[in-house]
Amino acid sequence: MSSVLVVAGAVFANGKLLIAQRAYPPELAGLWELPGGKVESGETHSDALVRELCEELNVDVSVGEPLSEVVRPREGLELVAIRARIVSGEPRPVEHRALRWVDADDLIALDDAGSVVPNDRAWIPELVADLRVE
Ligand code: CDP
Repeated sequence: MSSVLVVAGAVFANGKLLIAQRAYPPELAGLWELPGGKVESGETHSDALVRELCEELNVDVSVGEPLSEVVRPREGLELVAIRARIVSGEPRPVEHRALRWVDADDLIALDDAGSVVPNDRAWIPELVADLRVE
């Protein structure tokens, strides 16, 4: 069985990080995540992130360095977060319930409140460190 690879975007601008509130499935609806999705066959991670953020946020991004933490929630599923910056467009929640720009303290507060999707929690320390120097 081939494994599923998911790329998620850590989009930074003006010292803040863009996070997206899931609309589905019911068990994740209302929780915040880094927007992204599955890498399709023949795509690089970077291709997939550009496509997903265009589909989900209606923006064009330039892709930077991945976070060092790779999340493997279960056999056959791997999630990679990659830093990105908006090149054109104003993000809007095409598939999500809402979007929000957060600073380090906002992100910590959301995590403490249990409002971050479980798979993405492993990225919080690195994201907070990035936000502190943005
Ligand atoms: O857009 P697509 O259907 O390819 O992807 P998705 O349904 O948004 O995400 C694929 C899988 O990755 C789902 O199981 C999501 O819950 C998970 N995911 C995640 O855990 N954290 C993210 N930041 C993005 C996706």
